[in-house]
Amino acid sequence: MLFGNRILWHASLLAAGVSLASGLLEKPKVDGIPQYVLDYAPVCYLHHQELYFPSDLQAHLDNTTPQDDNFKKIDGAPSPLSLTNLNKLNDFAEGGKKVYLTSNDDITKDPAWLKGAAPDCDGKASDIIAVAVIVVDKGDDNIDAFFQYFYSYNWGGVVLKAFQAGNHVGDWEQNMIRFEKGVPKYVWFSQHGNGQAFAYDVLEKDGQRFVNYIANGSHANYAVSGSHDHTIPELNLGKGILMDYTDGPKEGGKLWDPLQNAYFYKFSNSTGKPTFTSSEPGKYPTEWLDFLGKWGDKQYPKSDKRQQEILGGITAKFVGGPTGPIDKQLDRKEVCPDNGNPCILRHILSP
Ligand SMILES: *[C@@H]1O[C@H](CO)[C@@H](O)[C@H](O)[C@H]1NC(C)=O
Ligand SMILES: *[C@@H]1O[C@H](CO)[C@@H](O)[C@H](O)[C@H]1NC(C)=O
Repeated sequence: MLFGNRILWHASLLAAGVSLASGLLEKPKVDGIPQYVLDYAPVCYLHHQELYFPSDLQAHLDNTTPQDDNFKKIDGAPSPLSLTNLNKLNDFAEGGKKVYLTSNDDITKDPAWLKGAAPDCDGKASDIIAVAVIVVDKGDDNIDAFFQYFYSYNWGGVVLKAFQAGNHVGDWEQNMIRFEKGVPKYVWFSQHGNGQAFAYDVLEKDGQRFVNYIANGSHANYAVSGSHDHTIPELNLGKGILMDYTDGPKEGGKLWDPLQNAYFYKFSNSTGKPTFTSSEPGKYPTEWLDFLGKWGDKQYPKSDKRQQEILGGITAKFVGGPTGPIDKQLDRKEVCPDNGNPCILRHILSP
C-alpha cells in the first residue's frame, strides 16, 4: 500500500513537471516558435541581496496610473489598464511617447508590489508573467530570440560610496540569442545604456542553456558572476565609481528560470510597421507590446521633496522610467543595438 502510494506520488510529481536532474522545471510547451529557442534559453541567477524581483506585468498596471509630461493624470485613458488595452495609451501625449505609468503609491514608502516575486528554489517566480520571449525571423533560417525581463523597480546603486542614485519605477532588461540555422552563435547582455555580446560557445552553461547573472538592484545582465564596474551612461566618471554586483549559486544567488514566467511572441517589421503576434494564435495578449510610453514615473523635479540631485545635477536619486520591448531595436542588424558604440563580439569570457 505504502509502496503503491509512493509510485502514485512520483507519477503525480512527474505529471506536474517538477524538478529535473539540473534542478530546473520541465520547459513549457510552446507552439509557434522553434523548440531550440526554449532549449537554449538563459538560466538566470539573481543576487542574494536582491530586493526587487521579476514582476508581474498586470500587477504593475494595477498599481500605476498613466500621467502625461506634466505629471497630470491622462483623462480618457482606459481604466482599468490591462495587457489588452495598454496600446490605447498611444492615443495620448505625443502618440504615447510622453505617457508615464506612474506609481499610485509613494515609492519612498517601498510598497510591496514594487518588490515583484522571488523565485522558488526550483527557479519559478510564483505564477507571474515577467518575461516576453520575442522571436524575430531574419530570413535564411536565421533568427534572433529576445528574452525581455521586467521588474517593477530598479534600485540604482551607490555612487562614490555616498549617494544612492538612479532608482526608477519599471525596468526592462534583456538577453538576445542570435541563431544561425538553429545553432546559437552570439548572446547579447543588456547593461544600463549598452551591454556586452559574447560567443555562445564561451558562456557558462547549465546543460545547453547559458547562465545569465543579474546585477543586484539594477538588473543589468552579465556573463560572469562577481563585481562589475560600470559608469553612468553618458558620463565618464572613471572606474569604481558605480559598481554592479552579481553572484551565482555558491554565494547564495537565486536561480530564476525565465521560461517559467513568460509569454511567447513573434515580431516582424518587414513592412515598416512593427507587428507582434502571439506564438500560438490568440494565446498571449499582444496589445501591450505596442505601447510606446514609459513603464514608470517621470523623473521627479528638484522641487519634489523625494528628489535629490547628485554631483551638481548630472544624475539624481530618482530618474525616469524606461520604454518597453518595442524600443529595444528588435530588428537590429548587429548583435548589439545600433547606439554609436562599437559592437565587440567577445570570444573570451570576461567581466
Ligand atoms: C543590494 O540591493 C539592496 C537594495 O535593493 C541594498 O540594500 C544592498 O546593499 C545591495 N547589495 C549590494 C552588494 O550592492
Ligand atoms: C520598423 O521599421 C521602421 C522603418 O525601417 C523603423 O523606422 C522603425 O524604427 C522600426 N521599428 C521597430 C520597432 O523596429
